[in-house]
Formats: sequence, structure tokens, C-alpha cells
Amino acid sequence: MADKLWGGRFSTSPNQELEKLNSSINIDKELYAEDIAGSIAYAKSLVTVNLLTEEERDRICDGLNCIKKEWDEGSFIIKKDDEDIHTANERRLKELIGEPATKLHVGRSRNDQVATDMKLWLRSRLTELKSLMLELINVTLERSAEEVGVLMPGYTHLQRAQPVRWSHWLLSHAWSLKNDVDRLQEIKKRVNIMPLGSGALAGNPFNIDRKLLAASLNFAELTHNSMQAVSDRDFIAEFLFWASLTGVHMSRWAEDLIIFCSKEFGYVTIDEAFSTGSSLMPQKRNPDSLELIRGIGGGLFGKCCSLMMTMKGLPSTYNKDMQGDKSEMFAAFQKLQSILKVATGVIKTLKLNEEKCQGGLSVEMLATDIAYYLVRKGLPFRKAHHIAGQVVAHAEKSNVPLQSLSYNELKSISEHFSNDFSKIWNYENSVEQYQAIGGTSKRSVLNQIEELKKWMNET
Ligand code: ARG
Repeated sequence: MADKLWGGRFSTSPNQELEKLNSSINIDKELYAEDIAGSIAYAKSLVTVNLLTEEERDRICDGLNCIKKEWDEGSFIIKKDDEDIHTANERRLKELIGEPATKLHVGRSRNDQVATDMKLWLRSRLTELKSLMLELINVTLERSAEEVGVLMPGYTHLQRAQPVRWSHWLLSHAWSLKNDVDRLQEIKKRVNIMPLGSGALAGNPFNIDRKLLAASLNFAELTHNSMQAVSDRDFIAEFLFWASLTGVHMSRWAEDLIIFCSKEFGYVTIDEAFSTGSSLMPQKRNPDSLELIRGIGGGLFGKCCSLMMTMKGLPSTYNKDMQGDKSEMFAAFQKLQSILKVATGVIKTLKLNEEKCQGGLSVEMLATDIAYYLVRKGLPFRKAHHIAGQVVAHAEKSNVPLQSLSYNELKSISEHFSNDFSKIWNYENSVEQYQAIGGTSKRSVLNQIEELKKWMNET
């Protein structure tokens, strides 16, 4: 068992199936750069406590840089006994530089090593996701400003509700994404706490300077309890929940657009570059990009559940169950990265069909405005609502559109109607009522764009 890094106390090799199950190198090789960065920083701190000479440190660092180059270039050869990225890098280091390699792991464990690697990895990926999200928000802002004049139906229960600006709809999703970015920054604070120097569970017995170590790896803080440090996967759980929630927002956005691009609605046309056809029906142009985004929203939550269920039953500190955390984290990142890019492309290239949006509006969507008209004439809202209901019922009974009810007919329902009533039948007037912050009037929509731009500059 000389070929296993932990083989000293064993006389036989593990069962082959177990060996396959235990091997994580094909997944955690993703962490190679972070593993090497952590080892270089650790080697430097070992010099300060006289566990390495400067010459040994330099050989270790040169060797590690060489290994990084091999990974970067795709020339690193994974060997059968490379259980995970940590053992693979250490094995290779010994091949390259010999003896000093065997001194590197002193006081360290794969338990604090893997937690550190994952935090380093996630920290940089969060930055990448943040910039992808800002790009999506930015494209949304650009469209919102350009197309602020377009009105469309707003829905509740997927039933026509009230007219809104198309840009108000667009921005509604931008605001959700803004909250997601804010939450991401929060998570980053907890990712940015260094576990290295916690050993297997009891801490570091050689009194290495963990503050210096944290500074050299750019961590803002360090963990204060070694048992907690090696137990903790909260940062992954938080990331996966965050990814799921962002996925839910992306899914709802996609679902709206899937509806809007159907022939029945036709408000938007998804660019060919983001659509696919049918192998059977030649006329089809399907919004697969959006459906994939919607589907992935569900898959992301699956990854969150998977980690939560794994962690729930575990006793303190490190347990091998936790090895599965990485595939969920990597996959969630990769999926989100991909759907954010596709979403940005979809929104950049989709065609807005203004006439269809306008054509989707219908006068019954102004029924609320009848009530508001009466309120402005001094009626209490409940009374006004009741009268507006009577007007709708009367039009329905007479089988005529609302706006063709005559002045006399309206007067017979309520004496509060006067001849300024016709201004109600104007969708532009309708949306312009909503001047208060957050509403769909032009001023409010333009303010939203300004607010989001300001936030983006400060983020
Ligand atoms: N490959 C392991 C993981 O990802 C590294 C930690 C192993 N620690 C141990 N004590 N076996 O979880």
C-alpha cells in the first residue's frame, strides 16, 4: 500500500468497486488551480515556523507552478492511484522535486485543504456570475429605455388585468435580478473566510500564522474554530439556494416570454439564433432557449436539496458523504453561467411586435379606471367599484363593447358620470395614472432605469 498517501497502516488494497466510488479526481480536478494556490501559500507559511527552508519552499513553489502549467495545458497525466486533486498534485510534486514534496502536508489535512480550495473556487466564480448578471440587467435597461413607449396587457392569474408599459414588464425582472446580485454579495462575505490551518479537525499544531496565510490568499477573515471550519458547507448550501432562487427568477422570466412568443399572443419574436425547429413539422420555431432556462431552474433546486439532505444527518467535522458537494457546486455554476449568457442573447435579439402588444389591449382592462374615475368625482372606492361592475355587466348584457355605451346609458347607472368620461378609453391615459414610485407611468419607468443604473455603478 506504499502507493496510497494514507497507505501506511493498511496491508491490503481497497476493494475495486470502493476505489471507484471513492475516487473523485475526475470531478475535483476542476479545483487544480485553487489547490495549487493554497499549497503555495501554505508552503510559504511553513518557512516562518521553520518546517521548510527557503530553498525547499522555492523548490516546492517551482514544482507546483510547473504542475499548474501541466493542468493548464492539458498535459497532466492522472494516475490510477490519484484519489482526488489533493493527492494527485502531491504525488506529481514528489515526482518532480523529490524529498521536499513530502514535507508540504505537515499540519495540514485534506479536510481544511478541500474546504479552502472550494472557497477559493467559489469566490472567483461568484465574481463571474455577478458580471454576467449585470450584463443581463444592462441589456434589459437598454431595451427598457428604447421601448418605453410600447404598451401591452399586464396579467394576473394569466388573465388580462391592466395595461402596462412593456418596459415595466422588462424591468420587473431586472429588479428581481438586482436582488439576486445583492444576495450574491452577501454570500461572498461568508465564502471569504479561510478554513486553512484547521488541520483534520483540531487545528494547526505548529502555530503557523493564519492571519498572514489568509492575507496571502486574499481572504478577508479566517475561521475561529477548527471543528466548525472542516464541518462547514454552509457556503455551498447558500450558493445552491441562491442559484435556485436566481434560477426561479430566470424561469419565470422565460415562462412569460414563452407565452408572449406564441402565435396566440405574438408580442415578441425570439430570434432564430435562439430558437430551434421540429424534425417533423416544418413550420415550427420553438423557443428552446427559454424552455431550457425554465427547466434548469428546477434542476438547480434539485442540487440544493441534494446537498441539504446530505448534510442533514452528518455528525460534526468531515465525513466522506461530503465529497459529493463539489459536483453540485460545479454543475450549478456551469448551468447558471450558461443560462445567463443565453438569456442575455435572447433579450438582446428578440423582436418586439408593437402592434401585437397594442392589439392585446382591450377596453375591459380599463374597468378599474371607471372606478378610479368615480373616485376622482368624490365617491368612496367600494361604491365606485360596484358602479363600475354594473357598467361592465350592462355592456355585457347589451352585448356591446364597454366604450360604446352611450352617455345616457352611463348616466342612468350613476349620476356621477359626466361628459369628460371618454378620456377613460385611452390606454396611454390609463398607464400615466400610475405616477407614484414603482408604477407603470413613463416617468416612473424612466426613474426605475435611473435607479438601477445608479445601483449598477455602485455595485
Ligand atoms: N476528496 C475529499 C473530498 O472532496 C477530500 C477530503 C478527504 N478527506 C478525508 N479525510 N478523506 O471531500
